[in-house]
Amino acid sequence: MIERAMALGREAEGMIRTLAMISAEDGRLTRLYLTPEHRQAADLVARWMTETGLEVSEDALGTVRGRLAPSSGTRNAVQRLLIGSHIDTVIDAGAYDGTFGVIAGILATREIIRKHGAMPFGIDVLAFGDEEGSRFVTTLLGSEAVAGHFDPAALQIESSDGIKLADALRLYCKDPDAIPSAAYEPGEAAAYVEVHIEQGPVLEEAGEGLGVVTAIASQIRYSVTVVGEAGHAGTVPMALRQDAFSACAEMALALERLARSHADDFMVGTIGKLSLSPGASNVIPSRIVFTVDLRSQSDARRMEAMSALRAEFLAIAERRGVSTWIEQTYEAKAEPCDPALQAGFAAAIAAQGGKAIHLPSGAGHDAQSLAALCPIGMLFVRCRGGISHNPAEFTSIRDMGLAVMALIDFIEKFDPLQEAAKN
Ligand code: GLV
Ligand code: MN
Ligand code: MN
Repeated sequence: MIERAMALGREAEGMIRTLAMISAEDGRLTRLYLTPEHRQAADLVARWMTETGLEVSEDALGTVRGRLAPSSGTRNAVQRLLIGSHIDTVIDAGAYDGTFGVIAGILATREIIRKHGAMPFGIDVLAFGDEEGSRFVTTLLGSEAVAGHFDPAALQIESSDGIKLADALRLYCKDPDAIPSAAYEPGEAAAYVEVHIEQGPVLEEAGEGLGVVTAIASQIRYSVTVVGEAGHAGTVPMALRQDAFSACAEMALALERLARSHADDFMVGTIGKLSLSPGASNVIPSRIVFTVDLRSQSDARRMEAMSALRAEFLAIAERRGVSTWIEQTYEAKAEPCDPALQAGFAAAIAAQGGKAIHLPSGAGHDAQSLAALCPIGMLFVRCRGGISHNPAEFTSIRDMGLAVMALIDFIEKFDPLQEAAKN
């Protein structure tokens, strides 16, 4: 069994390395939504899907879909198992986040075709283009469309390079009016499952290669603008300044304090992006725009924390004589994984000789969007040091191979009628 896992893991590693060469930057991996690099990666994934024997299409948001029809004479011919993840990356990314899930889906489906030809249910492998939200201030656009709840207001959102989503889609040769056709019909998707690297240290600490996700954290993102007054760095006395950066620094510490005080709910708060103007060493900063990303396993605690934070930001601004605007750019509620799908993944891990660790996900995933359409399940794979969103991200060939084997086992035992009975 381990030889088979190693062979599949080696294949996955080769495919990951090939995809990682598609980047906007020399020497580091950056592949953002609807860019020429996204196009190239989507074409490569489509080619792999075709070689696997899947029928390939691409929807209005650029999600690549590889379809395996159910075996003939199947009673529940419309029911499909969806398997997916994403092919976009953060800036200066690791190679495994998202891409391994897409590759695991392709390899597992190929093995299913080799062994069984088809299953009594259809299988769709999905490669989403926007899970990271690194180009537009919102995220999960492709998976929201597939789940049938894409918000058309998102078409007006501008990217970090100043292009509206609607225009970026047209430049990618997509028709924004066709977005509704990306959605599955209700009842068509029996379940959505996703294989993903853990991006945290729990599996490594437990000495296990694979784990079962119990729920995905809720999150909210804001864009905060602070406006003070520019002035001469050498002449304006400290007490008379309206320094936008000092206010922002105090806000950052307030966010950190708040998240630390909710450690029980796995609350985490991050300011990951900040622009400062006018941006000269001898000028007091007059304007700062920064992002806030706040997550928790509890929707209620996250909402409570967010209103406390808003009040604190306004109080800091008032005390310092600066103005502030807080605009919500994204919100996702916590999504539990389906108990039967969790049990399916736990059994599949046990079949590979592992012990199924159950753990929550602090990272967001496409599965979160799909929860509005059908039951969701996720299989996590150990990554070294829990490091992710970092070029040092690493998952071993053995663990990847075992994950593909577990996914094959899961598909073989999957029963769409059982899932449908719960919908
Ligand atoms: C995606 O990686 C996210 O959780 O931000
Ligand atoms: Mn991811
Ligand atoms: Mn990520």
